[in-house]
Amino acid sequence: MGEFDDRAFRNAMGNFCTGVVVATGMLDDAPVGFAAQSFVSLSLAPPLVALCPGKNSTSWPKLRASGSFCINILAADQQPVCDAMAISGGDKFSAFEWSTGVTGSPVLAGVLGYVDCDLEAEHDAGDHTIAVGRVRDFNVLQDNGTPLLFFRGGYGQFNGTA
Ligand SMILES: Cc1cc2nc3c(=O)[nH]c(=O)nc-3n(C[C@H](O)[C@H](O)[C@H](O)COP(=O)(O)O)c2cc1C
Repeated sequence: MGEFDDRAFRNAMGNFCTGVVVATGMLDDAPVGFAAQSFVSLSLAPPLVALCPGKNSTSWPKLRASGSFCINILAADQQPVCDAMAISGGDKFSAFEWSTGVTGSPVLAGVLGYVDCDLEAEHDAGDHTIAVGRVRDFNVLQDNGTPLLFFRGGYGQFNGTA
């Protein structure tokens, strides 16, 4: 392979379809969070999940400092939430309704479900890190809801049987 083609790599990886989550937290009584696709369920015993924050994220250092984060799984009609949470800086939460999970992190109204975690470990990984969360609480809030999907740089919906 010659010189690495960043754009081609991005485009190729865009063929892996994912859901979208918002990782939220609370620092100094202020809600913080950002949109992410890099979420995975990692371990059952003990219950662990992982998220990959970019090193340019301004919200992740706040979540790290709080020691906890909540993964909010976005529903199909929540692209506006995703758009707002993918902007760096500003008050991202005032336009949305949310309640507080066991770790103190925001649970956004209208999500399919959430996983509330304490930060267990963080591993360096190039221009991102791998944050491992130990699950303290989780809930499915919409048994019949469908997810917001992200594929080839665009959003879509699940059309199968769920
Ligand atoms: C669909 C989608 C997926 C994203 N996935 C990630 C991700 O996995 N990790 C990450 O750090 N940023 C991800 N982002 C980008 C962040 O949401 C964006 O950089 C945001 O501005 C960060 O805000 P912050 O500076 O408040 O942390 C994603 C954005 C979108 C729209």
